[in-house]
Amino acid sequence: MDYDSTDIPAVYDRGRDHGPEMLQLWMKVVASSVGKQSINTILDLGCGTGRFSEALAAHFDAEVIGIDPSKKMLDQAWKKLRDRRVQYEHGCGEAIPLPNDSVDLIFMSMCFHHFDDQMLATRECRRVLRDGATAILRTGTRDRIPSYPYVDFFPKIHPILKDRLPTAAFIREVFESAGFSTVSSDIVIQQIAPDCATYIDKLSAGADSVLAQLSPADFQAGIEAMRAHAARAGDKPVCEPIDLFVFR
Ligand SMILES: C[S@@+](CC[C@H](N)C(=O)[O-])C[C@H]1O[C@@H](n2cnc3c(N)ncnc32)[C@H](O)[C@@H]1O
Repeated sequence: MDYDSTDIPAVYDRGRDHGPEMLQLWMKVVASSVGKQSINTILDLGCGTGRFSEALAAHFDAEVIGIDPSKKMLDQAWKKLRDRRVQYEHGCGEAIPLPNDSVDLIFMSMCFHHFDDQMLATRECRRVLRDGATAILRTGTRDRIPSYPYVDFFPKIHPILKDRLPTAAFIREVFESAGFSTVSSDIVIQQIAPDCATYIDKLSAGADSVLAQLSPADFQAGIEAMRAHAARAGDKPVCEPIDLFVFR
């Protein structure tokens, strides 16, 4: 998907930054997936605004190369970059601008369903990854649609999600045909808002590329339905399941 033809980059972090606890959770998850392998160079493929890039550099004390085809997403990433171990480059999964066997870990978050050619991008991952090293995919899947916290409020989103999101079985098939073995496939539950009102504010930012497919009227109707629900449901934290695949 071409993020540069949308308004998402300017609002992405407003809608999708879930704070330091969420980053810590994911750094622990990544570290336990990698085990004792030594990590000097990390590729954050489809890095977007660099939501995870600096946390990866700090956690592993490693060089991080964030690659993304969207200049607007990369502009946001560059603007807030503080860590010298991180650099961003324009590029895409289907033609990763890195040499063979040059990275110790690939981290991909919420980008697999955006690849134009998922098989080619996965083969590219295999090419740039050193033998025996780990590729981690953090993603949504078709299997999880009923559990996403917003779906019941936006009835027209079901077919769009079904069309956009891969199944877990398809993801494994693609990685295994590219020469990876599946180490694990899990679900991680992350908190994305302390209460429903905050969640609605985040969704209203317009940072979700799937919800952006709805007409403004359908989107607004869903937001109103969520507001009515929030008034009844009170102050419970909002959590969502994320699929985590570890390949080697
Ligand atoms: C939902 S954002 C995820 C950004 C970041 N990884 C995160 O989790 O916040 C999806 C990103 O995938 C990128 N993307 C789209 N097509 C891509 C491709 N062919 N190769 C690599 N990244 C791609 C988009 O530009 C966008 O920045």
